[in-house]
Amino acid sequence: MTKNAYDEKLYPYSIKAFTHPARMGVVARLFGHGAAPFEKCRVLEVGGGDGVNVVSMALAAPDSEFVNFDLAESAIEQGRRLVERTGVRNVAQLAMNLMDVPASLGEFDYIIAHGVYAWTPQPVREGLMALFARHLSPAGIAMVSYNALPGCHIRRAVRDLAHQAARGHTEPEARIGAARAALEFHVARWDRANAAQNALLEEAKGILAKPDGVLFHDELCDDWNPQFVSDVARAARGQGLEYLGDMQRNLLGDALFPGQLHRETTHLTGGDFAAYEQIRDFADARPFRETLLCRAGAPLERRFDPARAKGLWIDGIFERVDTPGKAHSFRAAGGGEISTSDAGLADSLDRISKAWPAAVPLSDVAGDADTLEAMTRLFTGGAAGFSTSPFAAARVPGERPLAGKLARVQAAAGALEVTTLRHTPARIESDGLRAVLPLLDGTRTLEQAAAELAPAHGGDAASLRNARAALSVFVHTGLMEA
Ligand SMILES: C[S@@+](CC[C@H](N)C(=O)[O-])C[C@H]1O[C@@H](n2cnc3c(N)ncnc32)[C@H](O)[C@@H]1O
Repeated sequence: MTKNAYDEKLYPYSIKAFTHPARMGVVARLFGHGAAPFEKCRVLEVGGGDGVNVVSMALAAPDSEFVNFDLAESAIEQGRRLVERTGVRNVAQLAMNLMDVPASLGEFDYIIAHGVYAWTPQPVREGLMALFARHLSPAGIAMVSYNALPGCHIRRAVRDLAHQAARGHTEPEARIGAARAALEFHVARWDRANAAQNALLEEAKGILAKPDGVLFHDELCDDWNPQFVSDVARAARGQGLEYLGDMQRNLLGDALFPGQLHRETTHLTGGDFAAYEQIRDFADARPFRETLLCRAGAPLERRFDPARAKGLWIDGIFERVDTPGKAHSFRAAGGGEISTSDAGLADSLDRISKAWPAAVPLSDVAGDADTLEAMTRLFTGGAAGFSTSPFAAARVPGERPLAGKLARVQAAAGALEVTTLRHTPARIESDGLRAVLPLLDGTRTLEQAAAELAPAHGGDAASLRNARAALSVFVHTGLMEA
């Protein structure tokens, strides 16, 4: 196999919450499409690097089957070590080009291609669509993310600057250094009062905040082809696939509860949803898409229907706050304030909060169509989470606390970022708290774990205080199993 740039400098692969089948399935179900249960499904990740994303899923769904492949052999090697260390049994890690996937790999209920489509040349993009068409099960869902136009025109301008600065350097570190220096030079000079310069400044700051490995690959690679959503939908249709929707909540909300832009543009789109999405991208100058595709011909109904929300699960944190003149007000940890005079809805929000980080069946907290709609609006607004299956994160840890296996392996290897049982990344900055995580493997009490760490943590009492604080943070973050 030929080596690619990802063998030359490792990419910091990480967990992508929106690629989880239990989250993708929500959009599919709300749009009237089926979605295989996470507990019993086949998932393929294309270009998933070391496969940490599917390893996290696989540990939570032992009866499902996961395949990750990537062109970069070094990433797959790393992924195989991760499989060994976590002991996960249902993940295959393959070093493979997406152009050469054998038919014997079979069909998948979910296919994920995050950060691949816009970073590859036209023949490979066509190859990826063809792969979806060949390997998607009849009711399967593919998720292809990509840098989108028109938003990425601004990024193109900043990227051009970084590219010119890196030109002439061959070593990754020298290219990164030259690009960073040029970006910093201009960031210090661009004038915020000038709208165009302010846009460049914001974009450049975002790029500068990226780790070296991401900056090197995402910004300094040659093949970078941001896409119009309408072109992606056309390419999909050419392969017998259909545009289903997008994982971004505001777009989902706009589809379920159409607003003014939708009404004003119906005569332009003729009801073609992908055409409408393109108009939205021009309206919003959208730079990124998380597009869901399904097989053409599947019956789709993108309007909100309470019956379709019923089987879902909900999670969230809603803190009661005092708002003058409002009967019940909450601040949502997911963002935003909610005020309601409906005591039943307020009680439901309390119950959801009390269950965190565990999810509750939506049918338990939303008995009628109005409450189901209110909850769905909280979801599309980002205040609540929906899933087709509950995540394994527990509110009450066992007497011998058990943290998720992947997080324990990551913490033991010294990683600052670990993976929660909610399939999200969590950064644990404190060395003291992080040291506790690998010991919470279900074989010792918290007191025993603290005693083991006592010499390093300033004695028994200080170590126990630290361990208790750690457990409280881990529970809240969704790192602990029941
Ligand atoms: C920007 S990275 C994204 C990685 C990962 N999906 C993530 O988001 O963390 C792109 C990945 O696609 C892989 N890739 C590029 N072209 C490929 C191909 N033709 N076949 C398989 N993998 C490919 C690269 O090796 C790299 O790991």
